[in-house]
Amino acid sequence: MDAAIEVNDLQKTYRGRRTGEVRAVDGVSFRVEAGEFFGILGPNGAGKTTTLEIVEGLRRPDGGEVRLLGQSPWPHSPALSQRMGVQLQASSFFEFLTVREQIETFAELYGASRARAAEMLEQVGLSDKARTRCQKLSGGQQQRLSIACALVGDPELVFLDEPTAALDPQARRNLWDLMRSINDEGRTVVLTTHYMEEAEALCDRVAIMDAGRILAVDSPAELIRGLDAPTRVTVAAGQLSEERAKELAEGETAASDDEAVVFETRDPQRLLTALAAEGALDGLAVRTANLEDVFLNVTGREWRE
Ligand SMILES: Nc1ncnc2c1ncn2[C@@H]1O[C@H](COP(=O)(O)OP(=O)(O)O)[C@@H](O)[C@H]1O
Ligand SMILES: [Mg+2]
Repeated sequence: MDAAIEVNDLQKTYRGRRTGEVRAVDGVSFRVEAGEFFGILGPNGAGKTTTLEIVEGLRRPDGGEVRLLGQSPWPHSPALSQRMGVQLQASSFFEFLTVREQIETFAELYGASRARAAEMLEQVGLSDKARTRCQKLSGGQQQRLSIACALVGDPELVFLDEPTAALDPQARRNLWDLMRSINDEGRTVVLTTHYMEEAEALCDRVAIMDAGRILAVDSPAELIRGLDAPTRVTVAAGQLSEERAKELAEGETAASDDEAVVFETRDPQRLLTALAAEGALDGLAVRTANLEDVFLNVTGREWRE
């Protein structure tokens, strides 16, 4: 496969009078294949936006190299800009424009037709809001409009910087469907997010970023498999004596307290069968490792948003 993006040893330090030096991006390298859904996952301040802005050609790195569709994004090239869609923050809309006026402004910028603009409003489910002023849209509607604006030029490559931040869960799920469909159309998508489950649900591969560095890159499934973590099975209190729990654990871990017995097992099939035979499945919870555990493993600290 051709690389849509190749990034090699990017460096960016911000210097402020009050903040001093901040190494926002500290030796970042990664590669995104054409057609891939690639995620950059990290807590606030990790350096996701700075990385994205450098890759998009909006910001100049102090060091390192970027190849975007085989070209350098810096200095700015209009030919390259036509091939990529950058989702702008919803706050940069002209709030007195209607939804239709806003997207037609973008369409003109990309040399796209009004019909294409209308088609994009349809795709993001905003056709019935065409005459509404942008300032009257809900948070989720504004995000969908900003994605429509990024897509109106029919780009090969789409950059989405935390598109679901501050949305309620329902609006977030709706956007997931939209993002999936953009990728299904064959476009390469680069998404930044600080939501673990979002990265897990959407991305073919995820780069885990913290403090300006990428600590791991792989598919969510491979990252989780690499942990080789046990399955955790929790049985509500009152269904098993401590003694019986120890027996069922067959040498693996079983920790009891007033509320529950928690097993850690490498053989969930055996343990769950035994618990079923015991009649101890009420209120049972089974938890396998997830990206949160991967983050803990690579950073040595808990995930905090
Ligand atoms: N324009 C800027 N000037 C100075 N510091 C900045 C600027 N933008 C970001 N930073 C700092 O750089 C670090 C990385 O920020 P950012 O790239 O926005 O991370 P993220 O998008 O992961 O939250 C943070 O410590 C942030 O405070
Ligand atoms: Mg950011």
